[in-house]
Amino acid sequence: MTMAMSIAQFTFFSRATSSSFLNRTNARFNRFTFSTPFSTADATCTRKKNGRLPVLSALELGGVKIARDDVVRDDPTNNVPDSIFSKLGMQLHKRNQHPIGILKNAIYEYFDANYSNKFDKFDDLCPLVSVKQNFDDVLVPADHISRSYNDTYYVDSQTVLRCHTSAHQAELLRDGHTHFLVTGDVYRRDSIDSTHYPVFHQVFVASHYLQPPNFFFLGFFLRFWSIHSYTLLLEMQMEGFRVFSPEEWEASGLDGTSYAAGDLKKCLEGLARHLFGAVEMRWIDAYFPFTNPSFELEIYFQEKWMEVLGCGVTEQEILRNNGQLDSVAWAFGLGLERLAMVLFDIPDIRLFWSNDERFTSQVQLIDNFTNKKGMTSHCYRIAYRSMECSLTDEEINELQRKVREQVETKLNVELR
Ligand code: PHE
Repeated sequence: MTMAMSIAQFTFFSRATSSSFLNRTNARFNRFTFSTPFSTADATCTRKKNGRLPVLSALELGGVKIARDDVVRDDPTNNVPDSIFSKLGMQLHKRNQHPIGILKNAIYEYFDANYSNKFDKFDDLCPLVSVKQNFDDVLVPADHISRSYNDTYYVDSQTVLRCHTSAHQAELLRDGHTHFLVTGDVYRRDSIDSTHYPVFHQVFVASHYLQPPNFFFLGFFLRFWSIHSYTLLLEMQMEGFRVFSPEEWEASGLDGTSYAAGDLKKCLEGLARHLFGAVEMRWIDAYFPFTNPSFELEIYFQEKWMEVLGCGVTEQEILRNNGQLDSVAWAFGLGLERLAMVLFDIPDIRLFWSNDERFTSQVQLIDNFTNKKGMTSHCYRIAYRSMECSLTDEEINELQRKVREQVETKLNVELR
């Protein structure tokens, strides 16, 4: 991955701090001063020859200690490489300054505000789950391709690295939760492109839940083509789940399923607007073993429609099996990186997993003071970088000019 970067700095005055997420602000400012020049482009190429982290021997996740030997074993039922173990403890969603952490908090904000804090939040459930949790509990058929060793990381024949956060639905229902959000890392052996992690490019993108007979054909085709390039697909997901009791839909005159489907779409469209403002979106009919009807939401980004979440009305059998007899429910699973790409205009999903601080701390507040007149001065350092090439001074100047222009008009600050 070629990355070039440069650092620039600027300071502005503000009367108040930004009131809400990202570019929404009520802050009012009243003076414009001059623009600080920044350091010239240090356009060095920081190509990493080998982005691998040193392999740790143990880590702690959700209160559970996991040693390397618990996950990576020299055993025919185990197909987990060291590279996966090194990713297990990264916990991007728990870093409040990381795009994934910022996004998670923005989604929490939406649910807290619209559902009076009713949604219980889980963000440290262990990614090692049983085959039962990952597949059986959510009705994935016994012969489904997603269960194969080509598609899922098996620690042993009964334990996997969860391939979706839906693996926690059943246990949380059994524990009595009726409104919940589960955030975590999920692992699949799958095809890769710039919206999938990590590095190898591959020709096909297959859905895990293609219905027969297509999946037999596609599954064969995929395996045939990708024997050498199958690799880790690691994503951050958030699962949402909401149970309704009969009183909630009876008054509407709709049946439970239609009521839940309508509520689900309204909720997710509201979420998309909360995050992106006016964004182009569309619903696509989909198939998942655990929901019916099922849908996908796509968002228009960089001249393409991009799938950002799967969702649907939960199969009755899952509710019945887990102590919810007369209820209906909806569920969704959203890809946090994809939403973060749209939100922060990040061109390549691989950047999320970079340990390079110039990405993870791309914008840094380096000075903050309030003067006697009550004006607050913020000085930010920004690391500019390109995935494609070394940036020239002129390119950085142009970027910096645009940032300053946007900051000035959108945040209404005085630049110094
Ligand atoms: N678990 C699905 C996936 O990972 C997403 C999903 C969650 C779909 C809940 C429907 C309901 O692709």
